[in-house]
Amino acid sequence: MRIIDDGDTLPAMDALTIPTDLVSAVKTARHIAVLTGAGVSAESGVPTFRDAQTGLWARYSPEELATPQAFRRNPRLVWEWYEWRRRLVAQAQPNPAHLALVQLEQIVPRLTLITQNVDGLHRRAGSRNVVELHGSITRTICFDDRQVVESWADTGDVPPRCPRCGGLLRPDVVWFGESLPPDALQTAFAAAEQCDLFFSVGTSTVVQPAASLPFTALQAGVPVVEINPQETPLTPYARWTLTGPAGKVLPALLRHVTSEGKI
Ligand code: OAD
Repeated sequence: MRIIDDGDTLPAMDALTIPTDLVSAVKTARHIAVLTGAGVSAESGVPTFRDAQTGLWARYSPEELATPQAFRRNPRLVWEWYEWRRRLVAQAQPNPAHLALVQLEQIVPRLTLITQNVDGLHRRAGSRNVVELHGSITRTICFDDRQVVESWADTGDVPPRCPRCGGLLRPDVVWFGESLPPDALQTAFAAAEQCDLFFSVGTSTVVQPAASLPFTALQAGVPVVEINPQETPLTPYARWTLTGPAGKVLPALLRHVTSEGKI
């Protein structure tokens, strides 16, 4: 792991070097906000979007699969693609990064976990205060009225039909060109402004409006930590950059935070 940091570092633990001033910042924080992206679930076997080889958008076209126009054009194709992803996610298990964030929530007074991920793995791991900015692949809504649909008759229709109005069913995720859920967005931006430490973990920081959250924190004077094996547009501005996989870096950070007395 490579750390771009000028400050002191703690002795190596698990071959990872964690800056001492970051450990202190975590220990004294009253409110931590964490933004996560697909990289957090990569070690659970869920593909990211923009990896040049394995990313979903390297193999599939978002215009054909992740827009309302695509669904109107070919609802069967879109439904079946999301069914494939739903099965993939159902088989995946939370990884050490998800579990470290559960632990972090238990030891800081307040943690707002803002995720762009639709896989539900943060909740399955046990995180409680989760803000799902892009919805959840585990929920289904009616395309026409956007109400959540819990169950439907198996008539062989693909996609199935809404039991209330007969509209087509779709996953409860935000597609390109759609608005994010307003409450989630408001909670996320308020947390970015009001927290005293902001983590950006496993996101390429290119999809708006989520990509603005760390910059909102920076403008409010909040120090930002980035955890990612790759550089992103945020990297030059982060106070701490922990270069490595979240499933290694977050547990190492948590071990340092918890091994030196209570917060
Ligand atoms: P991306 O695929 O754009 O970026 C994933 C990031 O995770 C990259 O910066 C990788 O370097 C990093 N990464 C990979 N493995 C990692 C690991 N083990 N630990 C930590 N980081 C790792 O995914 P997002 O930034 O989440 O939107 O993409 C944002 C949105 O674009 C998604 O929510 C999705 C997509 O279109 C919708 O579907 C609405």
